Amino acid sequence: MSAKSDARRARRELVLNELGLTPLWRIREANAPEAAQLNQACTEIPAVGAGPAEIHTAHVDQWEDRRAKILRMGWEGLQTSVAGCVACPLCESRSRTVFGVGDPNADWLCVGEGPGAQEDATGEPFVGLAGQLLDNMLAAIDLKRGRNVFITNIVKCRPPGNREPTPVEAQSCEPYLARQIELIRPRLIIALGKIAGSNLLNTSASLASLRGKVHKYLDIPVIVTYHPAYLLRNLPGKAMVWEDLCFARSTMNQLLQSGH
Ligand code: URA
Repeated sequence: MSAKSDARRARRELVLNELGLTPLWRIREANAPEAAQLNQACTEIPAVGAGPAEIHTAHVDQWEDRRAKILRMGWEGLQTSVAGCVACPLCESRSRTVFGVGDPNADWLCVGEGPGAQEDATGEPFVGLAGQLLDNMLAAIDLKRGRNVFITNIVKCRPPGNREPTPVEAQSCEPYLARQIELIRPRLIIALGKIAGSNLLNTSASLASLRGKVHKYLDIPVIVTYHPAYLLRNLPGKAMVWEDLCFARSTMNQLLQSGH
C-alpha cells in the first residue's frame, strides 16, 4: 500500500473514531436503488455481539467499500448517488444536494466549500452573492460559468447555518469529489478557500502559505486562493485574488503549451 493511501486510511480511521464507531445515520428513502444499496453498505450495523475491534474493522471496510463503489460510477450514476446520499448528518437538514454545474469535460475545475442557503434551495453551486463574485473572478481570466469550467464543492449538502463542514462530513463526501475529478480530468483545479485547499491537498497549512504555488491533487495541478465569501468581508483581499487568478491563467497557458 502506498504512503498516500496509508495516510488516507489513517485519516479515515481518525474520522471513524470521531464517529464513536456508532452508525448514527439510518437509511431513508433514496432516489435510486443503486444509491440505496450503496448507502446501506455504509450505514449497516455490524452483527450483534461484535466487539469494538470487530465493529471498527467493519466500519473501515464498509467505508472503503463505499468509496470503491463510488470510484467505479459513471457521471449519471454519480449524480443519482449524490442525490440520494445519506452517508452523513447533513442529509437530515438539506433541501437538496448540490452536485455541481458546468462542463463535465472542462479544463478548469473550481472547488468551493459547501452549499449555502440559496444553493440548497436551487441545487446549483455559487448562486448567491459569493457566486456573483465567483462569476466576476472567472470573467477576469476569460472564463464563463458553464463554458470550459466545472464548479463544485467539498460537500454536496448545506452545512446548517453556513458553518464549515466538519472533517467527518468532508470525508464522507470525498469519494464523490474524487470521482468527479477522475471523470472530468481537469487540467487545473482552483481551490476556493481554506476548506477546499486543505481537503484537496490533505494539509492543515494556512491559506496564506498555500497561495502562489502549484500543488498537486494526484497528478493534477492545484492553485489555492481565497473564497469569494471572504472577499465580500475583506475588500483588500481582492488584490491577492487577482494575483492568484493571473497565476492560474499563466499556469494554464503553460500547461496548454506543454500539451498537459
Ligand atoms: N460557498 C461555497 O463554498 N459554495 C457554494 O456553492 C456557495 C457558497
